[in-house]
Formats: sequence, structure tokens, C-alpha cells
Amino acid sequence: MMAPPAISSTPTSPSRAESEGSFRPEVSSVASLPRDDKTATWPNVGDALRAGAERLAAAGVAEPRLDARLLAAEALGLTPQEIFSRPGRGLTPAEAGRLDALLARRAAREPVSRILGRRGFWTLELALGPDTLDPRPDSETVIEAALAELPDRCAPLNLLDFGTGSGCLLLALLSELPNARGLGVDKSAGALDMARANAAVAGLAERANFIRGDWGRGIDGSFDVIVSNPPYISNQAIAGLAPEVALYDPHLALAGGDDGLECYRALAPDIARLLCPGGIAVVEVGQDQAPAVADVLGAAGLYIGGVRSDLAGMDRCVVAARGRRSMDEKMCWNVPAYPLR
Ligand SMILES: C[S@@+](CC[C@H](N)C(=O)[O-])C[C@H]1O[C@@H](n2cnc3c(N)ncnc32)[C@H](O)[C@@H]1O
Repeated sequence: MMAPPAISSTPTSPSRAESEGSFRPEVSSVASLPRDDKTATWPNVGDALRAGAERLAAAGVAEPRLDARLLAAEALGLTPQEIFSRPGRGLTPAEAGRLDALLARRAAREPVSRILGRRGFWTLELALGPDTLDPRPDSETVIEAALAELPDRCAPLNLLDFGTGSGCLLLALLSELPNARGLGVDKSAGALDMARANAAVAGLAERANFIRGDWGRGIDGSFDVIVSNPPYISNQAIAGLAPEVALYDPHLALAGGDDGLECYRALAPDIARLLCPGGIAVVEVGQDQAPAVADVLGAAGLYIGGVRSDLAGMDRCVVAARGRRSMDEKMCWNVPAYPLR
């Protein structure tokens, strides 16, 4: 699920690890936030950035200067780099009004990516909607782990993505595997609409199919690679997440049951059933969940090949296969047996 997910040139939001941090209720309401006035006027970009960053800092935003720059770029139709290099440029009243409105949304702790409606993931720019999880950079670990298991990227692989959301995992893999095809499954019709639109924009629609479903129910076939970032926050922990997550990511994308592991238990038999012999599964996990998820996958008959860490050094995904693989099989482990960091 949300590999609670840092991009400096693209919209950012808290990592899933960060998302498990504390909620600051005193800054959750726009009405309570310091405002310049209802119709902000700033003499130039430099002043607007300073005032904007102060306003976001007062609202508890983690990276107020960066976010003020990204929002100013959007409001003025410039790149973040241009904004930075033109502090003396004046703002028209319309530009100031647009910036003021964007700052108000961010001060209400709406993530920059949701305000802009887009998020960079892998090499793709993906559109976001209210029904999609905001893809986290940490989830790119799933892509790296899967690609590391594939000796021939030109093979005609069959991919499956459970809980596809924006389509980020499936589309990133398809962008690296030119002869692969893939199926993305999600329970949310709104998320599937967004995934289809993202596939079209990325030029991957002919190789990507998206269906509505409850994990593997009703799905037959044999897949070489199965990936999933299922919901993995325990239900009672959701309200305590950072406002960017608790208020703006869809509940369906977060809620992992009483212990956060419910979706893994539901998925494991489907993964074991649908994976072809020698095929691999890469499943994202939350903080400290890797051993428990490895146990769940192992109990379903899968061989656990390793655990991959994200750039922060946190366990981020479990790699599994149907049957222990060896060098003469289609794909082979290039990682030592679990546990692996
Ligand atoms: C954590 S999000 C991951 C989205 C995307 N793969 C990503 O990495 O950003 C989990 C996704 O699982 C979907 N989901 C939740 N329960 C599901 C179910 N029973 N069957 C299929 N999809 C489900 C949610 O709608 C959500 O899109």
C-alpha cells in the first residue's frame, strides 16, 4: 500500500513511514491558519515565496519553502527553477489570487500532488484523483525488486497488479518491459478510471488491461510477475496519521484491518494460485511487517526469496516465488534467502 513515500522537482507528500507519524490537530483547519488577507498582494515573487513559506510553516507543513515554490510555479505558469531564479518578477492580481488559493489548500494539509493533480512515479507522470492513493516514491522499491528478478526484459511476460490504484506499479513495469502485458485489478471504479487514463497518456494502453474486482476472485490465468501494494495500515491507526494521508488518501487504500495484515491474508492464496512456476511476486509492506507478511506468503506455499529495503533503509517489500528457483529456470534469484536488507 502506501509505501508511506522525496522528489524535489515533482510534488511531494509524506512517505508512508512518515504517514505513521503524529497528527497535529491544531493546524488541521484553514480557518485557524494565519492569512495575509483574503486578497493577497505581493510585490514580487521573492516576497510571495517568503510569505507563502511562512504561512505553510505555521500550518505545520514539513517542507514549506519547497511547497511554496511548487505552488507558485503552478500559479504563475513557470517551472520551479524559473520561480527560484526570478525573485524580482512581479505578480498580476490574477496570479496572486491563484497562488493564495493554492496556499490555502496546502495550509489545510492537502498534499501538493493532490493540489496539482499529478505525481511523478518512476519515469512517468501520473494523474491523481480522490479515489487513488497518492503513489509514494518508496513504492518504486517494488519496481526495482521486480526488475532485478528478470534476466530478460524483452521476454513476453504476463504481469498482474493487485490494488492498482493510479496504475503506478503496473505502468512503471510495462514501461521497462516492452513485450510484457499486464492486468491491473482494483475494487475502486474511480481508481480504475484514473489508471486507464494514465495508461493512455503513457502510451501503454494497448498492453494494460484494468478490471474491477476483489483481489483474485474470478481471475484465472498464469502470471510471471505479480506485484501488489495492498492497504496495510491497521484500522485504528488511520485517524492518527498525518493529515495529508488521513484526510486525503482514500480509506479503501489505507485500511488493512485490525492488525494491518488482512489484505495479505486475503491475497496470499490468490498469488500462489495465479503465479506460474518460477514466477515471482513482489509485495510492498509497512513498517515492521516484513516478517509477518513473509510468514503469510510462506504459509500459502510460496518460497520467500528476500526482503528489499527502501532508500531510508526500511524493509519495503517481500519477494516471493512459486517454488524455489534455480539458475536454470526462466528467472533466478539474484538475492540471498530471506532475510535480506
Ligand atoms: C495502498 S493502495 C495502492 C495503490 C497503488 N498500487 C500504489 O502503489 O500507489 C491499495 C489499493 O488497493 C485497492 N483495494 C483495496 N481493497 C481491495 C480489494 N479487496 N480488491 C482489489 N483492490 C482493493 C484500493 O482501492 C487501492 O487502490
